[in-house]
This record gives sequence, structure tokens and C-alpha cells, in this order.
Amino acid sequence: MVSKVKKNISKLKASATLAINEKSEELIKKGKKIYKFGFGQSPFHIPDKVVETLKKYAHKKEYLPIQGLPDLREKISKYLLKKTGVNYSKDNILITPGSKEAMLLMHVVFNGEILTPAPSWVSYEPQAQIGLNKVHWMETSQENNWFPTAKELENKLKIIGKKKNLILILNSPNNPSGAICNNLKDLAKVAKKYKLLVLSDEIYTDLSFDGNYKSISKFYPEFTFISGGLSKWCGAGGWRLGFLAVPNGSKEFMNSLKSLASESYSTVNTPTQFAAVEAYNGDYENYKLKVRAILNAVGTYVYSNLKSNKVLVNPPQGAFYLMPEFKNKKFKSSSQLCNVILNETGVAMLPGSDFGFSPKRMLTRLSYTDFDGIEFFKSVSNYKSISEEMVKRYAPNVVEGTTKLSNWAKNL
Ligand SMILES: Cc1ncc(COP(=O)(O)O)c(C=O)c1O
Repeated sequence: MVSKVKKNISKLKASATLAINEKSEELIKKGKKIYKFGFGQSPFHIPDKVVETLKKYAHKKEYLPIQGLPDLREKISKYLLKKTGVNYSKDNILITPGSKEAMLLMHVVFNGEILTPAPSWVSYEPQAQIGLNKVHWMETSQENNWFPTAKELENKLKIIGKKKNLILILNSPNNPSGAICNNLKDLAKVAKKYKLLVLSDEIYTDLSFDGNYKSISKFYPEFTFISGGLSKWCGAGGWRLGFLAVPNGSKEFMNSLKSLASESYSTVNTPTQFAAVEAYNGDYENYKLKVRAILNAVGTYVYSNLKSNKVLVNPPQGAFYLMPEFKNKKFKSSSQLCNVILNETGVAMLPGSDFGFSPKRMLTRLSYTDFDGIEFFKSVSNYKSISEEMVKRYAPNVVEGTTKLSNWAKNL
């Protein structure tokens, strides 16, 4: 009998992040102490005034326009202008239930193929599969900070050939490596030469520890799409508020995105859109400074205590991830490595194979958010001086898990 599930959908498997969570919960039920380094969620509170605004508008029940609240689109437009120097007008912004949905809509609308570096976020490939778009991976290296060089990009494009429509997906700071792309200008030159569309996933860009908001749109405004939202910098993942900014010459794209939005989620929930106006319009620089300083201090602690001749890892640069590589030939795959580490130390991480690497590379993604961000945040009066003592006091699970992991790695 013919399957009732479409082939491209039946191939999808449950998200790796969820699988590691389930395994961790199982072990917790058996009484084992688990260090949750597998799940990437902001540990911080949403700024009070943003929450107050949500409460104030909770009674608003009418549907908003498909494209989103005009005032919110206006504020995001201004925000992007300030951060990137590029003018995405409010008519070029679509409000979506999380930036994940923004990217999914793009995959469904787009007629062509996808190009993305390994490592890249777990959802790009499955989303491309849903949109029936082929994916081309570009392996990167630790020496090049886990991003492709312009030459590597051009070489890949020569192999793919010139005749195809292509979207290059870039994510900086990056999930899973935590690295920031420092060669955006060079990559933009190649993108321009080959007329690529670029999808710049900027969900973590406000969490760049050097405080610079770097976007490839600055060098390639004509064909850069930007996705972003409140999930990471504002600690509001569960609110599901994202956006897609579409470049000026892509009206056809925007019309189709809007049609798809109207036939699927209709419009994002009304109170959250009003609260997001406050988030994008208010001054939250101090909040961001503190959040970044805490993440940087915790990430630096993990990095300093983990790196060794057995564990290669780059210093933290942004978001809340590190991507250690374990020097070992004992394990068949990074997924086996993660399972053994979870069973022997209680540290839960995700395997590099979930992010586009060959399973043979002993890479893992380590998320250092297993701490009470609200308490840590309250304790910081001066974001410039977060001591190791504070990390030990307010992020004890991260400290203990790091010790377990680094001791485990000594015996490799
Ligand atoms: C790289 C990356 N992009 C996009 C998202 C999606 O975020 P949201 O849909 O919550 O906006 C995530 C969430 O984990 C992510 O890590």
C-alpha cells in the first residue's frame, strides 16, 4: 500500500535536542545527577517592563494584520537600522511565531538549493527537507573559527555550478560552536559575485560578547534576509516571537511568505506583539551588558577548565555554546561518545553529527546554561567584574559538570 505520509516528511526524525532531554529525564528518574549541557535555553528573566507590557495588553483579543502589528514592524525596522546600518522598511518585515517559523516559511517558498557551513543549527537541514530543497554542506575548521573562508565558499560554488538558485545560511554567533564570523565582508563579496541569497540567522547576534552586532547585511544589503526575535537576548523563547526582514528587491518573496503565513498561523498572538514593541523600543542595553557578561564569565570558566591536550576547544565568543573536540579513537561516533559521557559522568551534550559533521569527528555541543540566571543576574552590581567565585556560587552545576567532564577526559 502507498504510505499515507509524504516521503520527505517521514524521513524527518525527532529533534536531537529533545532526544537527549528524554534520555536525561530517564536517568534523573533513576536518581542520577544530570548536568544539562545539552539544551540551549536562556536562563535569564524577561526584562520586567516587557512582562508588564504583556500583562497590560492581555485583554487584547482581536487578530492583528497577517504581517504583524505595524508599530512592532516599525520598531524592528529602526532596531535593524541601528544595529546593521541597513534600512529594512516596516513593509519588508514579517512577524512570525519564533524565527524558526520564519526560516521554515522561507524554505517552503524558495525554489532552489541550500548552502550551509558544518557546523550549523540542527533545524536547517530538516526544514530544507520539508521545503524539498537540497542541502550542500561546507566543512569548516577550528583554525578558521568554524566558518568557511571566502575561498572555500567560492570553491564549493564552482562545484555546485552557476545555474542554480542558492541560499547561503549563516548564523553568527553560531549554534553549536559559539563562534563569531569575522570574515563577513569577504563572504559577502563571493555571495555578490554568485548572486546568492543570504539568510542571516541573527537570533544570537545581540549576545556577541565583544558587544559588536555584526551582520552580513551591511556588506550585501541587496540580497540578505535577516531572521531574529526575542528568544535568546530577551530570554523569551516560550513567547514565540520572531521576525523575518526581507531585502528590498524581494517583494515577490514577501507576498508568498504572507500568503503562507495567512494559511498556516494567521498572525502571531496579539499581546505578545504589543510586548515586543516595548522590547525593541525600550533601552535594554544594561540588561544585555549584564547577560553577556555573565554568559561570558561562565563560558570562560568552562573553556579554561576543559581545554587540555585531550580536549580542543575555542574560547567563548557569543550565544551560550562551546564545541569541544575530544582527542580519542576509541568511539565509533560522536553520538556514542555523548552516550558514554552521559552514562559515566551525568553530563548531557549533543553530538557533532547533529550539526552536519561526520559522525567520526569527536565533536560535541556543550551549552553552559544549566544555572539560575535570575539569581546570578540579581547578584551582579558591576558587569565588568564577575569573578570566578561568583561563577562557582551561582553556576554550581556548570562548575561541577565541567569538573566531571574534564576528569573523565583525562583518562582518554
Ligand atoms: C541558531 C538558531 N536559530 C534559530 C533558533 C530558533 O529560535 P526561535 O524560533 O525561538 O526564534 C534557534 C533556537 O534554538 C537557534 O539556535
